[in-house]
Amino acid sequence: MNASFHHESVLSAEVIDFLRPAMGRTIVDGTLGGGGHSSLLLHGGARVVGFDRDPDALHYSRKKLTSYGDLFTAVEGNFAEAPRILATLGIEKLDGILLDLGVSSHQLDTAERGFSFQSQGPLDMRMAKSGLTAADIVNTLEASELARIFREYGDEPRAIQFAARIVRARQHGAISSTRQLAELIAAGRSGPRHPATRVFQALRIAVNDEIGSLERALPSFGNLLAPGGRMAVITFHSLEDRIVKHFFRRHSLVEIDDPTWPSARPNPDLLFDTLTPRSITASPVELERNPRSRSARLRVVERLLTPQKKGAA
Ligand SMILES: C[S@@+](CC[C@H](N)C(=O)[O-])C[C@H]1O[C@@H](n2cnc3c(N)ncnc32)[C@H](O)[C@@H]1O
Repeated sequence: MNASFHHESVLSAEVIDFLRPAMGRTIVDGTLGGGGHSSLLLHGGARVVGFDRDPDALHYSRKKLTSYGDLFTAVEGNFAEAPRILATLGIEKLDGILLDLGVSSHQLDTAERGFSFQSQGPLDMRMAKSGLTAADIVNTLEASELARIFREYGDEPRAIQFAARIVRARQHGAISSTRQLAELIAAGRSGPRHPATRVFQALRIAVNDEIGSLERALPSFGNLLAPGGRMAVITFHSLEDRIVKHFFRRHSLVEIDDPTWPSARPNPDLLFDTLTPRSITASPVELERNPRSRSARLRVVERLLTPQKKGAA
């Protein structure tokens, strides 16, 4: 493990403005990473429980945030398991939740983790250090399933072609390194964007079941929020953003309508007020400083005091 941990937090000022950390508030950071957002939340006075699946991130954040003592708790695990784990810590309601999805720069830049096509490493891509690796997926799934992963998680227009190429190549021996896969996909082509960019992103999402974790976590986090508590989610990928947007929308519409009904009806799933009618993106200053913030989108909701209150307002 590298001694240093490089990751620049995105949309930090916006996250802090929305989550309003203060003494007496309990906030879950579901994606601790380098502890950048968490340190700002702790600095604001909040108690923070941070989750990460990656033991390296945990190790680094624990060291970095040790001066906050009991105000900071770091838990190794998937944020989708947070409600169960929080219950064991005696925490039943939260004032804030942050999810800053995807991988950290540290993970991407550590060659032996196998996330990047730009450096040579084992074809791994696991955030946690257990479970199936990208090599397991690439060397065992049928072409149709590989193509689905590339299309759904990577928006890869040449998904079928790349899947067929992988299946042909693995007949001559397993594909086991990042370079091997990147070269197989590129097949001598180059361009401003490496041809393997989308395939690597798609494999990472599949290996870590990132969509499944998000879909499981959102409803349970929604229920854990205290009235007036806020949930902020930063996504870097259109599929994730769509999931968050639809979930927030479904639970913040005051009324729902259907062409077969005589009139609109109160929404039985009303839970939140949307604080970001449009997603928030990085400012030009942040974009200049941190190019990784380019695709970041922040959406925030607030748990209603009572479902009726918003209808009456
Ligand atoms: C973008 S980084 C977070 C950076 C962090 N906000 C900061 O300021 O340093 C995402 C982190 O979330 C972790 N992660 C992603 N999905 C996760 C999940 N389902 N459960 C727990 N941790 C997850 C990754 O291992 C990674 O360390």
